Amino acid sequence: MAATSFDSSKAYKSWEVDGKFFGDGREVALLEYVHSHPDVEQMRGNPKRVIQAIDAFAQSHTGLINIGELKGALVCDLVAKHKPAVMLELGGYVGYSAILFGDALKRAGGKRYFSVEKNPLFAAVASSLIDLAGLRDTVRVVVGTGAEGIQRLYDEGALASQIQAAFFDHHKPSYTSDLKLCERLGLIGEGTVLIADNMILPGNPEYEAYVRASVAEKRAKADAGGEKGNPSLQYVSRSEISYEPSGQQDALEITECSGIAA
Ligand SMILES: C[S@@+](CC[C@H](N)C(=O)[O-])C[C@H]1O[C@@H](n2cnc3c(N)ncnc32)[C@H](O)[C@@H]1O
Repeated sequence: MAATSFDSSKAYKSWEVDGKFFGDGREVALLEYVHSHPDVEQMRGNPKRVIQAIDAFAQSHTGLINIGELKGALVCDLVAKHKPAVMLELGGYVGYSAILFGDALKRAGGKRYFSVEKNPLFAAVASSLIDLAGLRDTVRVVVGTGAEGIQRLYDEGALASQIQAAFFDHHKPSYTSDLKLCERLGLIGEGTVLIADNMILPGNPEYEAYVRASVAEKRAKADAGGEKGNPSLQYVSRSEISYEPSGQQDALEITECSGIAA
């Protein structure tokens, strides 16, 4: 479902409050709002109701740096199409995308959604909301940077072979290096779909160039001493324009691995 317009009646409040965009107590306020909500009993085991409550908080109290309804719907469509058994998310924040996409993965027959989040307080908020949504058996929150989370999940065998989908929504300069780590560990292969957020706001030219480069270009760079991933992976990549929940235009980069060059 490509969004052609933004419904301003659903706009989140401004992210910026006194020079802060997150981490000023709003995430704990969200948790208190949800758990003291008169409809909290209807949220138990109901991911859609939890997502609605998070959106309502961000529309009425303080903006939250969630992917939001419109970009979120694009990713849900990709999950329904690709039916990943295992999906990895880097940058979980308060669990909005993990609940939305974890639920989509479960409904498509998938098994596991791993959400890596660097900030332990945000990870704790996410875990509580995921539990409320009834997704504890599907979604696991891992505290650490993207690279730490990927390596830990690989070392313990939770990510032992190719994953079918990955969502990048964390530290923008780490998208490329964390993708290369996944490539080195053999987690990316034919059929894997990579989804990267914030390709306009703020943009990520390094990542965009990497997933759009040919195998020959990637091999030449790796031979010249650049950080190595698996340059033989063939990607087909495109941009999908949509909107932030604030109404600002943004884009996802959607990349499918079409094979491995000989
Ligand atoms: C835009 S928010 C993620 C929003 C979330 N995906 C959603 O749509 O609901 C980015 C998150 O990445 C986390 N983060 C920042 N650097 C990180 C890193 N290197 N590794 C993992 N998470 C990181 C931040 O703490 C923040 O919670």
